[in-house]
Amino acid sequence: MLRTRRLRTSENIRRLVRETKLSIDDLVYPLFIEDGEGIETEIEAMPGIKRFSLDRLSRELDEVTALNIPAVLLFGIPASKDDTGTQTWNEDGIIQKSLRFIKANYPDLYIITDVCFCEYTSHGHCGVLHGDDVDNDKTLANLSKQALSHAQAGADMVAPSGMMDGAVAAIREGLDAAGFTNLPIMGYSVKYASAFYGPFREAVGSAPSFGDRRTYQMDPANRREGMREAAYDDAEDADILMVKPALSYLDIIRELRDSFDKPIACYNVSGEYSMIKAASAKGWIDGERVMMESLLSMKRAGADIIITYFAKDVAKLLNTRA
Ligand code: PBG
Repeated sequence: MLRTRRLRTSENIRRLVRETKLSIDDLVYPLFIEDGEGIETEIEAMPGIKRFSLDRLSRELDEVTALNIPAVLLFGIPASKDDTGTQTWNEDGIIQKSLRFIKANYPDLYIITDVCFCEYTSHGHCGVLHGDDVDNDKTLANLSKQALSHAQAGADMVAPSGMMDGAVAAIREGLDAAGFTNLPIMGYSVKYASAFYGPFREAVGSAPSFGDRRTYQMDPANRREGMREAAYDDAEDADILMVKPALSYLDIIRELRDSFDKPIACYNVSGEYSMIKAASAKGWIDGERVMMESLLSMKRAGADIIITYFAKDVAKLLNTRA
């Protein structure tokens, strides 16, 4: 008989033949930073995840750096919003202040910034409106201003998440012209219009005030179109290609992995986090094991980088196992 069970008889032999391993090196931890003081608000649908004002952020950053998590991804919640999201390129905006603070106090932490407008516009859409829709090309100029402002404040990498056509090229051009030729761009290349973003929109107050994002984010039904999105970002010289969300899109991660030589990232989004936390709190699943199994599946699908709210939990677990 052909037998596969021989290599499963003990943990040590299973360790030897294990094909995929999660590592702290794979993790990026998102942070929500709110303009103001004394803010440390837990996001109800994301147990363990908080919005911090800068004066309360140190304990969180101490923990992240002590756990040896290589990078954070910053999201800002501004004091004021307007039609076009001008706070995104204000040198005293929340992200710019955060960048200066983190760089000064945690110089070794790698900082990626989310480059988008939905948290900063009064209407909650990801750019400049024309009628009821986002004007792609007008938004590009603002994206470029925003990314440059992040770079000037100390960002190590920028990550445009708004799904505007030509965003990577516009940002690259602006960065290069200002001398930031070495600052990488991670494209949210294949980003779907997903219901899994629900808790995030509650966390940062970015739900659109009318309509939805389906004229710019992708239809979850489409795989070939995702490949085209990735190819465009690749051609525009994105350094890293991302798939978002992760868990329902493992096929897309695998296909990108097989088609491109660049690093592939995936975003294990808010709803994926909430579901595991909620079921686990009810005692319906073993939250820790389900967390590890889901993140492992992203790695097995081909992701090099996993952006996840579980980063601290995973790092703690991997540290105790080491
Ligand atoms: C857009 C952005 C979103 C997320 C990351 N960047 C929300 C959206 O597109 O509506 C979602 C992240 C998550 O759900 O964890 N700035």
